[in-house]
Order: sequence, then C-alpha cells, then structure tokens
Amino acid sequence: VRLPQLATEVAACTKCGLSTTRTQTVFARGNPEARLCFVGEAPGADEDAQGLPFVGRAGQLLDKMIGAMGLDPAKDVYVCNILKCRPPGNRRPEPEEMAACFPYLNEQLALVRPRVIVALGNTAVAALLETKLGITKLRGQWKLYRSVLVMPTYHPSYLLRPSPQQIEAKRHAWEDLQL
Ligand code: URA
Repeated sequence: VRLPQLATEVAACTKCGLSTTRTQTVFARGNPEARLCFVGEAPGADEDAQGLPFVGRAGQLLDKMIGAMGLDPAKDVYVCNILKCRPPGNRRPEPEEMAACFPYLNEQLALVRPRVIVALGNTAVAALLETKLGITKLRGQWKLYRSVLVMPTYHPSYLLRPSPQQIEAKRHAWEDLQL
C-alpha cells in the first residue's frame, strides 16, 4: 500500500458514524518524506471544509511553532490526526471512533516512517502511547510508539485557550519542541 492509495481508502471509509456527518475526510498535509511528524486529535470545522489538517486557528499557531523551530511547515514536517473525520460540534473523539480509525494512522506512519513524532494533546497521547496518563504528566518526556521516538506536548488549541497556566504551558510546549 502506498500513501495515495491509503488516502483514497480513507476517503471512502464508513467504519464509524462520523462518516455520515463529515464533509470530507482529512488525511494529512506537509511532506511525507519528512523526518518529523505531528499528530493531533481530529479535524475541526475548517479542516472538514478544506480537507486538510490544522488549517484553522490551532493550525496557524502550529505553523508558527514549526517556523520558530527553524522548519518549513510545507517541507520539513508531516501533519496528521488520530481521527480522519470531524466529530460534530468538535466534541472529543469517542473510544469506538478512535479504535475504528487508529489502524489507518498505524498504516500511515508505517509508510511515512518518521524519525520523531510530536503527539499533540491527550487524544494523540492516549492513542499512540496506549496510556491513560494526561498530557501534563507526560509532556517533555521521550516515549516510544512502535520503536519511533515520541515527544508528547500540549495541543495548540489548549495553548490558545486563556487560563492561569497559559503562559507557563506555552513555555513548556516550546521547551518540548526544542527537545
Ligand atoms: N485540531 C486537531 O487536533 N487537528 C486538526 O486538524 C485541527 C485542529
């Protein structure tokens, strides 16, 4: 299986109920030859409309973070999600949806073969690392997914949300990306 073939297969998927509410599937953006891969949670409204991951407000912040790393979002990274379809109203993914969709990500990552994966937020960490520990516990520590290095850090949507911890969370996320 090659990536375009896998993307075509995903586009026709009806393995969970999200297939009835999506506008289109959202597979990936960036460079499939990149050594660095970012994995998020699921498409939002903008992603569902455009068919590309991280093109809304969180995506703009993600690209800013990638740029601050001295990398080009189009050339130096590959970006995808745990879920390929938007959960209605941007609710958290259900365990059944994650279980149905995760085999696609496994295949996708086996084809891209990144050297390092950045897991963005709780959903990505739960799926990739098979853990119930939260992102606050895990962030900044190297982990392994199928022998590939994983750096867990905060989801850019969390960093955009005003909170008493917002400044510190942004500093932590930047430290994690520097690792
Ligand atoms: N949030 C995500 O986790 N993924 C996207 O593609 C967009 C927003």
